[in-house]
Amino acid sequence: MGRFLVIFVCCFLFFILTNSTTPAIMNRSHSIRDGETLLSDGGSFELGFFSPANSTNRYLGLWFTKSPQTVFWVANRENPLPNSLGVLNITSEGILIIYSSTNDIVWSSNLSRTAENAVAELLESGNLVVREENDSKPANFLWQSFDYPSDTLLPGMKLGINFVTRLESFLSSWKSSEDPARGEFSFLLDPNGYPQLVLKKGNKTQVRIGSWNGLRFAAEIIPKPDSISTDDFVLNEKEGYFVFGSKSLGFPRLKLTPWGIPQRSIWNDRTHKWDFVEIAQLDICAQYSICGPNAFCQFNDSPICACLDGFMPKSPRDWKLSNWSGGCARRTPCSDKDRFQNYSRMKLPDTSSSWYNKSTGLGECKGICLKNCSCTAYANLDVRGGGSGCLIWFGDLIDTSRSKGDGQDLYVRIAVSELENVEKKRPVDKKKQAVIIASSVISVLGLLILGVVSYTRKTYLRKNDNSEERKEDMELPIYDLNTIARATNNFSSMNKLGEGGFGPVFKGALVNGQEIAVKRLSKSSGQGMDQFKNEVVLIAKLQHRNLVKLLGFCIHKDEKMLIYEYMPNKSLDSFIFDLTRRKLLNWTRRVHIVGGIARGLVYLHQDSRLRIIHRDIKASNILLDNELNPKISDFGLARMFGGDQVEANTNRVVGTYGYMSPEYALDGHLSVKSDVFSFGVLVLEIVSGKKNRGFCHPDQNLNLLGHAWILWTKGTPLDLIDEGLSDSRNLAEVLRCIHVALLCVQQRPEDRPTMSTVVVMLGSENPLPQPKQPGFFMGQNPPEKDSSSNKHEAHSLNEVSLTLLEAR
Ligand SMILES: *[C@@H]1O[C@H](CO)[C@@H](O)[C@H](O)[C@H]1NC(C)=O
Ligand SMILES: *[C@@H]1O[C@H](CO)[C@@H](O)[C@H](O)[C@H]1NC(C)=O
Ligand SMILES: *[C@@H]1O[C@H](CO)[C@@H](O)[C@H](O)[C@H]1NC(C)=O
Ligand SMILES: *[C@@H]1O[C@H](CO)[C@@H](O)[C@H](O)[C@H]1NC(C)=O
Ligand SMILES: *[C@@H]1O[C@H](CO)[C@@H](O)[C@H](O)[C@H]1NC(C)=O
Ligand SMILES: *[C@@H]1O[C@H](CO)[C@@H](O)[C@H](O)[C@H]1NC(C)=O
Ligand SMILES: *[C@@H]1O[C@H](CO)[C@@H](O)[C@H](O)[C@H]1NC(C)=O
Ligand SMILES: *[C@@H]1O[C@H](CO)[C@@H](O)[C@H](O)[C@H]1NC(C)=O
Ligand SMILES: *[C@@H]1O[C@H](CO)[C@@H](O)[C@H](O)[C@H]1NC(C)=O
Ligand SMILES: *[C@@H]1O[C@H](CO)[C@@H](O)[C@H](O)[C@H]1NC(C)=O
Repeated sequence: MGRFLVIFVCCFLFFILTNSTTPAIMNRSHSIRDGETLLSDGGSFELGFFSPANSTNRYLGLWFTKSPQTVFWVANRENPLPNSLGVLNITSEGILIIYSSTNDIVWSSNLSRTAENAVAELLESGNLVVREENDSKPANFLWQSFDYPSDTLLPGMKLGINFVTRLESFLSSWKSSEDPARGEFSFLLDPNGYPQLVLKKGNKTQVRIGSWNGLRFAAEIIPKPDSISTDDFVLNEKEGYFVFGSKSLGFPRLKLTPWGIPQRSIWNDRTHKWDFVEIAQLDICAQYSICGPNAFCQFNDSPICACLDGFMPKSPRDWKLSNWSGGCARRTPCSDKDRFQNYSRMKLPDTSSSWYNKSTGLGECKGICLKNCSCTAYANLDVRGGGSGCLIWFGDLIDTSRSKGDGQDLYVRIAVSELENVEKKRPVDKKKQAVIIASSVISVLGLLILGVVSYTRKTYLRKNDNSEERKEDMELPIYDLNTIARATNNFSSMNKLGEGGFGPVFKGALVNGQEIAVKRLSKSSGQGMDQFKNEVVLIAKLQHRNLVKLLGFCIHKDEKMLIYEYMPNKSLDSFIFDLTRRKLLNWTRRVHIVGGIARGLVYLHQDSRLRIIHRDIKASNILLDNELNPKISDFGLARMFGGDQVEANTNRVVGTYGYMSPEYALDGHLSVKSDVFSFGVLVLEIVSGKKNRGFCHPDQNLNLLGHAWILWTKGTPLDLIDEGLSDSRNLAEVLRCIHVALLCVQQRPEDRPTMSTVVVMLGSENPLPQPKQPGFFMGQNPPEKDSSSNKHEAHSLNEVSLTLLEAR
């Protein structure tokens, strides 16, 4: 009996196996109608007709059998079928043709030579090939889909160029997730000079991934290629191409998203999902040629751009205003006595006007460069084994930067006389630097948002400069208690505007009619009078259009008050969380508000002289003026009440649940990244019109962050949008806001961008890194630490800020 069973099972298995390994071949007496599919050898891929989400158009495509929504190749991407009556035929010569119901040709493949008895076969790799029936040698294929990628690169596909046939294979994004037509972005190998990978928008280079250095590309597409990837680059007389692969078990792909991000992921057979492999954070220096010719970008420096040694700004005036596009020019003419300056850890310049030789050593390379006056720099071609090969540049050096990763040594031509100057380089003047940073962030923005900007930005710049000068001689008025008491009706409850983290706020009117807001500080700061006064005077010097203006202060016995300009439109929470008032903030206004808050924070974090961490960024601390411009309030108070460390473990936690970053709420570890986290939460609230704390997902125990994250991973982030915002909205802009917000609320502070990077991200259309899971995405409260070690005492009143003191 048992034996029969075994035989039966074997036969059954055999049936399945033979069924799934039937060669997936079609010939001229076998066409594929809509509804039928061709299964690949091995069964991993299918060819058939499909409709993208939310579209009724039909396309012929190839998809992953385990995840039919993962279409990686589309034949008739520009020319959809209107109904399900399309059919794919192959002629005996080998031409693939899609006919519509009216026998019109919707798409066809073209061939350089024809066959006698052609068949099409879907190979195990996902490659659809056309070949002679009796000849399956890859070299003799007449046509293959791998030569014409859509938006996805699969293992075995070549991204590059065949120098013999001039065939270029590159990725081009879909127009949108609903339309596979060719979008704006392309990811390709630029074959000029030493070939390099570039990401283009239209015909403009946005990001230069760079050249292969033997191990990887300069701007790593993934962070640790050696450990998990089998990427390779092949360059010979016949072809130059990039291929990729993964050492891990799942099936990998590299997809160029409709918004221009090259995204790597691996199919996880256990979860039946694509796991994203993180991409390197593309910072501001990744912007193509942000510093102009002959300069280099250094992410952590301020300003970020500097001329290479021996060069000076072409237009010193523009350069000072942080408009670096003009770049730098050589100070001393070239001679054959020139030397070379060694720059370590560099992302090498644009190689489109370079020359290379794989078998020339570095010494010989230097000699070749020195002989030709238009040669400006040289480097090793391959970094492996101490370096080999020779790469030399002619003319301007473009898009050079200091690498955050390993980088490479670059030797730049410099006159002997200049070399002496370099040695006795001037020390940097700190004060001047601060001003430069302030204006630099603004003008970087200006450069990036080009079209939109201009007028407003310019006036802003001018204003900013003025205030910088005026600050020096500013006297802060001291008001006496009587004046303030009279102005606020003796602090009557009718005048009370609200209760902030450091005490109640009252509305008032001075005798001259000026409206003011008075913050009556709680008495727990523990500061002496003089100390308090000094601190207020310092904080009054913080002036920025996105910060509430401090008009004066009042000290009487142990009463301390701050007098601010009055904001008639109250705070942001009174808009976005209010069913009727939320309609007043359309999407354009919200984007404007998000940008304003971000710029205010950049000022606090790095452009002002005090370097302030706000610690309590939330909707009720953002006030709106007459024109609904955002103004951050309560800045500097945390400093007044706590320490002034830039990054420290504080034993005094100030903030509001729902906005506090995990490391701060749980461990009291404070840095500018805590504010970045709160900002991210606030942006999600602005987009969704829902409070993070108080948001309750019906099915899961998720807060707003968790909800946004789940929508993001499901690929439907736009479901987050406030229903009150259905008006003319720019979906790409909303998506960008959500994306940036998710980057800001990542669990690990070091993964979050700085506020200046946030401003750049919001203002440009460049690809953004993939966010990782946010911190605090479950439930209503931050998870408690082990309760016995929980030293924080919480006073939580809905939206009221907390002041937690650690008992020591
Ligand atoms: C087409 O393929 C089928 C099997 O798939 C075969 O029976 C038939 O003879 C082929 N026709 C031609 C014209 O080659
Ligand atoms: C497509 O091929 C089928 C045979 O599989 C044939 O009957 C049909 O006429 C062909 N269509 C066209 C438009 O040639
Ligand atoms: C499809 O359209 C519906 C309704 O417009 C929308 O809610 C959904 O997000 C769309 N799906 C995709 C994948 O775009
Ligand atoms: C195929 O057709 C395209 C245009 O449709 C043309 O640019 C290309 O050169 C053709 N390729 C061959 C091999 O004929
Ligand atoms: C395939 O068949 C053709 C004739 O139909 C013949 O000329 C050719 O040599 C064959 N090729 C191979 C590889 O057998
Ligand atoms: C790039 O595209 C723009 C607009 O699409 C066009 O005006 C310009 O001439 C193009 N430049 C090049 C070098 O092709
Ligand atoms: C930046 O400077 C260049 C010249 O160096 C000038 O042509 C351009 O208009 C300036 N851009 C802005 C935004 O000021
Ligand atoms: C250039 O600098 C790097 C790092 O400082 C060093 O390893 C290398 O030897 C230097 N090259 C030369 C030619 O001095
Ligand atoms: C490359 O360098 C090698 C050795 O220096 C030399 O023999 C060869 O001719 C060079 N090739 C070219 C194209 O210059
Ligand atoms: C220097 O290099 C440039 C660019 O390759 C070339 O056009 C020029 O002829 C070279 N000059 C000399 C003197 O070799």
